[in-house]
Amino acid sequence: MNKVLVSLLLTLGITGLAQAAGGDAAAGQGKVAVCGACHGADGNSAAPNFPKLAGQGERYLLKQLKDIKSGNRAVVEMTGLLDNLGEQDLADMAAYFASQKMSVGAADPKLVAQGEALFRGGKLDQGMPACTGCHSPDGAGLDAAGYPQLGGQHAAYVAKQLTDFREGNRTNDGDSQIMRGIAAKLSNKDIEALSSYVQGLH
Ligand code: HEC
Ligand code: HEC
Repeated sequence: MNKVLVSLLLTLGITGLAQAAGGDAAAGQGKVAVCGACHGADGNSAAPNFPKLAGQGERYLLKQLKDIKSGNRAVVEMTGLLDNLGEQDLADMAAYFASQKMSVGAADPKLVAQGEALFRGGKLDQGMPACTGCHSPDGAGLDAAGYPQLGGQHAAYVAKQLTDFREGNRTNDGDSQIMRGIAAKLSNKDIEALSSYVQGLH
């Protein structure tokens, strides 16, 4: 391929990315009233089964909203809610929640040692990687790669996601099936310890 074509493709690719991440947080704030009942006005939900959205990665949030809208991820509580919203609405809402700050919870002291060992060390004998590799040591994730923040998230919600990935009830982790593969190696006790640990992680 000649050089001009390569640089043209690069330019187009970069422009495409910039447009895809074009959410407007201020506009988003005006669109999230209906979400606040469950997720909290600023995205820090009170109930542990409703995920915190505050401070979550913008790219990850937008992907989840598209997946929920299309049915690729089933969230019965949100049935119909996104039907009349366009891509710009979803991007604006993602930008708004991403601009907030996730509150931190507390871990159960009795579960910290087991949770930390799994989070930082994985299960090498079973080929299960450490969570830190993608979700980072402080649990902040890496949004550019689509890895969500876990630090501070409600333990009950995290435990449900890991169980859903393990049982095949959540399947929107892509063709790599990365989270389904990892969750398959987790026992109920592992899930309890990991979920408690990340709730207090920051
Ligand atoms: C009636 C309660 C309810 C309302 C209203 C609601 N949600 Fe949700 N939402 C949920 C529940 C419950 C889940 C998690 C379901 C599960 O366990 O997988 C969720 C999940 C999500 C997720 C995925 C979070 C993650 O960490 O993966 C996003 C993003 C989200 N909601 C955004 C919104 C937005 C934006 C609105 C407003 C347009 C909204 N929700 C309104 C209950 C609600
Ligand atoms: C190789 C990268 C990678 C590793 C290692 C990894 N994850 Fe993930 N994880 C992801 C990706 C990517 C997603 C988002 C999938 C999607 O787009 O829905 C995710 C999503 C999650 C979610 C859902 C978050 C939410 O808000 O709904 C939880 C919980 C989670 N991971 C926990 C863990 C735990 C615990 C470990 C270690 C035992 C781990 N992950 C290891 C890549 C990884």
